[in-house]
Amino acid sequence: MTTPEIDLRSDTVTRPTPEMLAAMAHASLGDDSRDGDPTVERLEDLAALRCGKQAGLFLPSGTMANLVAILAHTGRAGEVLMEANSHTLTSELGGIGALAGLFTRPLPGYRGTPDFDALRAAVRRPGIGRSKVGTALIQLETSHNHAGGAVLPLAQMAAIRGLSLQHNVPVHVDGARLFNAATALGVGVDVIAQHADSVNFCLSKGLSAPIGSMLCGSSEFIENARGYRRMVGGNLRQAGPLAAAGILAIEKMSLRLAEDHATARQLADGLAELDSNLVDPAAIETNIVRIDVSKSPLDAETWERRLGAAGIRVGAYGAERQLRLVTHRHVDAAAIDHVLQQVRKMLQR
Ligand SMILES: Cc1ncc(COP(=O)(O)O)c(C=O)c1O
Repeated sequence: MTTPEIDLRSDTVTRPTPEMLAAMAHASLGDDSRDGDPTVERLEDLAALRCGKQAGLFLPSGTMANLVAILAHTGRAGEVLMEANSHTLTSELGGIGALAGLFTRPLPGYRGTPDFDALRAAVRRPGIGRSKVGTALIQLETSHNHAGGAVLPLAQMAAIRGLSLQHNVPVHVDGARLFNAATALGVGVDVIAQHADSVNFCLSKGLSAPIGSMLCGSSEFIENARGYRRMVGGNLRQAGPLAAAGILAIEKMSLRLAEDHATARQLADGLAELDSNLVDPAAIETNIVRIDVSKSPLDAETWERRLGAAGIRVGAYGAERQLRLVTHRHVDAAAIDHVLQQVRKMLQR
């Protein structure tokens, strides 16, 4: 019998559960873009309720949810402030400039949280001095992908919220893995979302739905976002089956994310035992393990290739020095033991 592949490149590789597939087969088939669809409406209401917001909007992806949120908050005018390694700046191919026409100011940060003093110094009103461009939006990200799944501390989110209210600038949270952040903090997602005007979260990552992201905010904001969703081609037709999977993602799959955090911790502990330069287990808060291979005898691409030959898929990043390993529903403790054995063999070769 061949060993099944262990895919640690991302939690987006999760497949829908049998229960999701059954619900999809029996879901309503309204044209959501024309008349609305009852299952999509149920999903949007559920997402809003969980996030403590008035309304929700179903979108095809996290990238589009961020873009639509940014468009709806700014109306394509002004400057957006965010931490320099935010997914929107590093991985969304400049849509914020190319499609939304906005300036961005990347800020220094620590584990994904923008530095408060740098943020305070960067916020500006239009017309101050020679500037005609005011701050239109502050964007945060939790858990933070490039910071190895770090969770923004609630106290710092609250401080940033205070600053935003003082300057009348909205806050959007890219919460692609919002439920992971909430699980790590031991709170509901609404406790995080209370510090923002809008929040997005992905159904298609650790929550295992095949497609979709939710954007939540005030009713007025979501109506505005609905228009921008149409503008960028994100309106869907018979979306009921996707929404049916999304409802189960929120109701059931959000409850098991602590398992993914435990396997990430197991992986980090095991790697650190093999070589303490690879990873600091204390830095693991959720389901992402970033490995620094710069002091190992092999570069990241060689790790990727050799583990790949052993049926273990990982992603190389950042000038051959980093790997990102993401745990999820299809990777259990036995699979992590197997990964660690293979890494041990590879390093001993
Ligand atoms: C923090 C963050 N934001 C946004 C996205 C984009 O989501 P999608 O791949 O659904 O466009 C991702 C995807 O990994 C992410 O990690």
